[in-house]
Amino acid sequence: MTETQRDVVDVLSADHREFDRIFRELEQLRGRTDADDLRRKRQLVDEVTIGLVKHSVAEETRVYPRVLAELYEEEAQHSKEEHAEAEETMKRLERMDPADAGFDGLVAELIAEIRHHVEHEEQRMFTELRAAFSHEQLVEMAEQVEAIKKIAPTRAHPMTPNEAGVRLAVGPVASLLDHLRDAVSGRGKSDG
Ligand SMILES: [Fe+2]
Ligand SMILES: [Fe+2]
Repeated sequence: MTETQRDVVDVLSADHREFDRIFRELEQLRGRTDADDLRRKRQLVDEVTIGLVKHSVAEETRVYPRVLAELYEEEAQHSKEEHAEAEETMKRLERMDPADAGFDGLVAELIAEIRHHVEHEEQRMFTELRAAFSHEQLVEMAEQVEAIKKIAPTRAHPMTPNEAGVRLAVGPVASLLDHLRDAVSGRGKSDG
């Protein structure tokens, strides 16, 4: 029996728990302005951004299409829109310094967006997935999701203050998204 193999709902839910662990640390750092705390905020936001981008691209390419085709088209579209919304917030955070007055507020916005989205996925979509697909199919989807998460670089950029200009010019969220989507679709393979 393969019942102990993690299916796609296990894998995606584990990611959700990891995002929330980071969010809770960020909430504890809210309002703190020590140099160490500001550095930690930057590090945590960058870490959760990379995780969220990988997770979203995997869902959008390997899970939502199945939901769209075999379950509820509207639900898949709605979930994609929520991803796009969170991506915009992540791009704004990327350009902002943790010392800026608006940084903590924008972090709170991202946390609220993702918590809302995760609640929707876990309460509706995941239940529907388990009802609609066999365990084997869900394990296969889990493998596909894991494969996509391995494609992307684990760090978008080095975390030195001098990188601020590069951060703004290159836009790691955008380039990470492009890199992942190209890799998944097979485009841009020669790209170093
Ligand atoms: Fe999602
Ligand atoms: Fe998710």
